[in-house]
Amino acid sequence: MNSTPVIIDSKPVSFVIGEGALKHSKRLLKKFPRMIVLVDDNVRKYCLPVFEEFLNEFEFSGVVEIRSGEGFKNIEQSIDIWQALTDLKVDRDALLVNLGGGVVSDIGGFVAATYKRGIQFINFPTTLLGMIDAAIGGKTGVDFSGFKNQVGLFTDPIAVIVDPVFLKTLESVEWQSGYAEVIKYALIMDRDLWRMLDGKSYKEVEEWNKIIIKAAKDKIDIVRYDTHEKGIRKNLNFGHTIGHAFESFFLKTATPITHGKAVAAGMICESWISSQLYGEDCVLLPEIEGMIDKSFDRLDIQEKHIPEFMELMRHDKKVREGKLQFSLIKKIGKAVHNIEVDNPMVINSIKYYIHQSISS
Ligand SMILES: NC(=O)c1ccc[n+]([C@@H]2O[C@H](COP(=O)([O-])OP(=O)(O)OC[C@H]3O[C@@H](n4cnc5c(N)ncnc54)[C@H](O)[C@@H]3O)[C@@H](O)[C@H]2O)c1
Ligand SMILES: [Zn+2]
Repeated sequence: MNSTPVIIDSKPVSFVIGEGALKHSKRLLKKFPRMIVLVDDNVRKYCLPVFEEFLNEFEFSGVVEIRSGEGFKNIEQSIDIWQALTDLKVDRDALLVNLGGGVVSDIGGFVAATYKRGIQFINFPTTLLGMIDAAIGGKTGVDFSGFKNQVGLFTDPIAVIVDPVFLKTLESVEWQSGYAEVIKYALIMDRDLWRMLDGKSYKEVEEWNKIIIKAAKDKIDIVRYDTHEKGIRKNLNFGHTIGHAFESFFLKTATPITHGKAVAAGMICESWISSQLYGEDCVLLPEIEGMIDKSFDRLDIQEKHIPEFMELMRHDKKVREGKLQFSLIKKIGKAVHNIEVDNPMVINSIKYYIHQSISS
């Protein structure tokens, strides 16, 4: 089937989204005398051959490979990339092609923005999470001193090219992780997307192309109005205040969990809080829980862990005058942000997650 991608020629970033996007990127790439491709080891193996086959009329001046995984999204690896660009005598008229998941686009954007005071870059995301989230919105950076995304900057690529062709080799756990963010867009802003998902698990979805286009456009819409997260972009934090605490908690154990699993659990807790504040008839908690439970097993957490979760949340940046700030939903498809929630209600939401009730 010959599909036409969606093209959003907005300033400062152009987006080409959906099947056929790679082909469409050619007119953009033609403008650059030199192009360097940044990949990680998995992407080199699985995605670079596809990329080179589609774009076989182009000559790339170099491929820079980094090691895969969040553990390598750091300043040491940035130094290695700066060094590689220097060795390749890359000049300011060159283009950096970030081919990979969120780790590659985060570190690649950071390196591009700082190398010789900035060279241009394009994101070609290759994971579901990259396609609908990480590659869009201009946040770049690396982890530092045990904190995620501690050093970095807002800087825009000239384009984001989202082609699902790369997803054929993506592992199931990565599909699942990205799916949590798809569900999030549906809950915070997109009832149509909720209907399209139709209660399906990530394993049952067939219309990925349509869903990726819809979710990516949702993120574009939000960041276009609020790049620097002063207002509406905060809605994207739905599920993340409690979710981040779960993620950090498991990071210290022998069994870390994906960001998506943590956010999925966080969304159940924060949907429960939403239903308490805005009414169960509006928030439709059972429907939301049913949807999330289809893709995600419940986390193995117990009541005795709750004080640690609360402590982790206090360290999060979403605290004002000692009170936790949440992004919540008033109903499916409508989010609100900067909502202060008292600690007992947060605690009860986690109890609810554990027991499906708060009485026990
Ligand atoms: N900048 C932002 O706005 C933003 C938003 C969300 C997440 N992020 C960041 O994104 C990162 C997570 O992104 P991610 O989930 O894409 O992780 P990732 O980049 O680590 O990719 C996940 C794994 O999949 C592999 N991979 C990538 N594409 C593949 C393919 N097509 N086939 C087979 N394997 C493939 C990678 O090598 C890696 O092992 C985190 O560092 C997070 O902080 C950034
Ligand atoms: Zn997230």
